[in-house]
Amino acid sequence: MSLPVRPDLEAVPAYRQGRAAPDGASKLSSNESPHPPLPSVIAAVQDRLARVNRYPDMSADALRRRIAERHGVDVEQVTVGAGSVELAAQLIHATAGAGDEVMFAWRSFEAYPSLVRIAGATPVAVPLDADHRHDLDAMLAAITPRTRLIFVCNPNNPTGTVVGADELERFVAAVPRDILVVIDEAYVHFDRSVYFDASRGRGAGIELFRRHPHIAVLHTFSKAYGLAGLRIGYAISPAVIAENQRKTALPFGVTDLAQTAAIASLDAEHELAIRIDDVVVQRERMSALLEAAGWSPSPSQANFVWVPSGPRTAHLEGLLRAGGVITRAFAGEGVRISSGSAEDIDRVEAALAAAARSARTQNLQHQHVNEEVRA
Ligand SMILES: Cc1ncc(COP(=O)(O)O)c(C=O)c1O
Repeated sequence: MSLPVRPDLEAVPAYRQGRAAPDGASKLSSNESPHPPLPSVIAAVQDRLARVNRYPDMSADALRRRIAERHGVDVEQVTVGAGSVELAAQLIHATAGAGDEVMFAWRSFEAYPSLVRIAGATPVAVPLDADHRHDLDAMLAAITPRTRLIFVCNPNNPTGTVVGADELERFVAAVPRDILVVIDEAYVHFDRSVYFDASRGRGAGIELFRRHPHIAVLHTFSKAYGLAGLRIGYAISPAVIAENQRKTALPFGVTDLAQTAAIASLDAEHELAIRIDDVVVQRERMSALLEAAGWSPSPSQANFVWVPSGPRTAHLEGLLRAGGVITRAFAGEGVRISSGSAEDIDRVEAALAAAARSARTQNLQHQHVNEEVRA
């Protein structure tokens, strides 16, 4: 007798976490915030620690109200989850099952194809265009009667590219109303294009949600708010979808500490904005350093930079690792380097300079050997 192993799970790769960094190295492999939690967030969490003998509020009422107010939506349209990755799973489970298709651009967030397969649905991956951007025309052309949900990751992980608000609105308007378009804005706070409305502190996704009936928006507290370790994110989706999402959620999956930290972070958004600006400054600095070193990074609006290094991917990953910088490499495609603190990017600079020195020495040695051979 063999164990009851679900055969379709064979096609599901285990989620690959960003590489751990040895002591003292810069961990730029998981798009985390380089900043420790704010003192006010730590204090709020500490305050609640004495209550962990109790289950959390499963409806996350206080936090959902706060988010609804923040974005001017109904509280019924807000769902929280153990990170936005859980909400992506909830949205798939709420809309798609065996025989249904879920579409996304590729390459994009690595979890999408696995989550779709786990739900028993079929992933449809539409290649990014030559500029590493969503190819929205190709995505429209790939819609079939079985399509239930389409992810648009904006800005896209790992390429950092953004679909503009107008472009996205044209796409959304062309997608039939019985397909849910999920705009994953995990990185939107780092966007300095017009897609992000700095005065309101939100991306265009929420405005599209207001104007169209078949939109959901994913946000996370893991990146700009620096709470990756506490696991909390939220979705804004049509009430009927949100109701079904809640049915698919793991009961009590979002802890009281996570809810508390999320509220404390919303209270401290002005303080967090300074940190976000800092991450953007370091991102731009890193892009310029890579450019100057001859690696053409793609323009990024996220908290990381994508270098489409193709066959030189292992070389770039290796030279950065030699300089104490741990990145996320996609074999044969490119390297994603998270933006970190100024010290982290100093390390990137030093690693690129060391590689350039060693290349010069090697060139000189080659020249020398060639001259000797000729002589
Ligand atoms: C595009 C995108 N969406 C969602 C997530 C999930 O983040 P979390 O589950 O920590 O909220 C990530 C994490 O890297 C991501 O890159």
